[in-house]
Amino acid sequence: MKKTILVVFGTRPEAIKMFPVIHALKADGRFRVVTCVSAQHRGMLDQVLDIAGIVPEHDLDLMKPDQTLDGLTAALLTGLGGVMDIEKPDWVVVQGDTATAMSGALAAYYRKVPVAHVEAGLRSHNIYHPWPEEVNRKIIGSIAALHFAPTDVSAAALRAENVADSAIHITGNTVIDALEWVSARIAAEPALAEGLAELEARFAGKRIIGVTSHRRENFGGGLEAIAEAIRQIAARDDVALIFPVHPNPNVRRVMDAALAGLPNVAMIEPLDYPHFARLLSICEIMLTDSGGVQEEAPALGKPVLVMRETTERPEGVDAGTAKLVGTDSARIVSEIFTLLDDKAAYSAMARAHNPFGDGKAAQRIVELLGNAG
Ligand code: UD1
Ligand code: UDP
Repeated sequence: MKKTILVVFGTRPEAIKMFPVIHALKADGRFRVVTCVSAQHRGMLDQVLDIAGIVPEHDLDLMKPDQTLDGLTAALLTGLGGVMDIEKPDWVVVQGDTATAMSGALAAYYRKVPVAHVEAGLRSHNIYHPWPEEVNRKIIGSIAALHFAPTDVSAAALRAENVADSAIHITGNTVIDALEWVSARIAAEPALAEGLAELEARFAGKRIIGVTSHRRENFGGGLEAIAEAIRQIAARDDVALIFPVHPNPNVRRVMDAALAGLPNVAMIEPLDYPHFARLLSICEIMLTDSGGVQEEAPALGKPVLVMRETTERPEGVDAGTAKLVGTDSARIVSEIFTLLDDKAAYSAMARAHNPFGDGKAAQRIVELLGNAG
């Protein structure tokens, strides 16, 4: 009898980090693989499903404009529970720390279905940074029967919470598998990432800084300070900032008000994954509050300045390719200027290395699921 694996996800980063696992599960005859998307994100999720060639068996289509955490979570719990009642999975697999992942784990627990957690053990040790992700992943951690920790650091965090050693497996982060996969796709079919050509021509000769920002804990003052920093950086005429703006209205409002019309700031729609990989390859520096970008930029040797006070991904900081710069405008501007103007400071950060994985995480995860009861 094939094992039924229900893979649950709902946002862009979960889709990016889960597609290598789905590809590997589907290539293995031991499993019946059922994919369920909550569509907590819509457009940004569909961009990843398209490039990865995934057609979910279940699509709950839950996204509402400017959705609240409690409204979203309530809909997720009943929606995902309903799918579990239909599919009767042997395992539910969730990824990371979103509302979808937390609700998927909880709905599985209510049915006594074992949960496998991809990207387990990330901890900032501050429940409001990032908010609400720190608590989401702790809830998942207290439910999961299999914890796929990306690194030694995340495995140690789980052990410190008394998770049994036998349930923890260091697999690497599947984001490196995804990045390698998409890079190979682009190499075979360059047209997949040629959509930035016009911007690249417009900014020829300028030093490109890639920007992303979306964290809920930064809504309001934090985002305004980030926008102010971008304004000040853009006052230099040797730089250009390419900023795919998250569609969350709380982000858009602030960025549109502060940055519209600046000639060397391109505020653009979210890029699909091949185009974002292209942005990572053409930029000199990434300025971001994203989790996934902190993992991808070091793999490509791009210094990443992280607009947060804490990180659950200390591996990049420890290795010297990431730096926490908080959300104070003056600090962000001065750190960017140092990287632009001090060659030694730049070279010290610009070393390609993969503290987060080796591109084989998905295969390890599938083996572990195959061997699990
Ligand atoms: C969510 C996750 C966060 C993750 C982030 C990745 C939670 C609570 N938050 O935050 O952990 O880091 O995704 O991006 O799970 N929207 C669109 N189109 C889209 C996606 C979003 O219009 O494709 C807009 C909608 O108005 C939506 C809003 O953004 O209501 C917020 O989406 P939501 O998933 O609740 O929060 P994110 O900030 O995206
Ligand atoms: N990303 C993308 N297009 C964009 C911005 C980001 O494909 O316009 C990818 C990026 O490569 C990374 C992931 O989205 O893999 C990060 O998602 P996000 O920052 O939304 O969420 P987080 O990682 O912070 O949870």
